[in-house]
Amino acid sequence: MEDKAKIQEMIAAASRAREFSYAPYSNFTVGAALITKSGKVFTGCNVESVSYSPTTCAERVAILKAVSEGERSFEMIVVIGGPRVGESKAKGYSGPCGVCRQMIYEFGKDIQIIIANSLDEYYVHDISELFPLGFGPDHLLG
Ligand code: THU
Repeated sequence: MEDKAKIQEMIAAASRAREFSYAPYSNFTVGAALITKSGKVFTGCNVESVSYSPTTCAERVAILKAVSEGERSFEMIVVIGGPRVGESKAKGYSGPCGVCRQMIYEFGKDIQIIIANSLDEYYVHDISELFPLGFGPDHLLG
């Protein structure tokens, strides 16, 4: 599936979720949107903590929402993020962190990852490309 309209709809969903980002410490706001193979969409934003380590990335919020509602079969996850507008001149693509890559890999080696900068600027990869030789469920479950 590399349907541009579908990818753009998902980027729009991730961008809307990004508006809810709680990032007072980093000022780096991130939104994610996950679509299941059955077509359900779950979104997430990053949620920070004053003690830092409890901070949860947007992608994991979306995954945890989906799994906690009975969904484990994922087709695609979109991530869009960067410094809050006006806070920094830095811009560009923000791919999933290592912990999120591990968590995505948990649910399938072929999940598509869309790393977006805008509706028209995005990269398409699958998790196996972004997490090569990953440690996965097969290692423990056989
Ligand atoms: N962040 C995400 O939400 N997703 C990622 O994959 C990378 C990092 C968040 C965590 C933290 O709130 C902020 O971005 C800066 O690290």
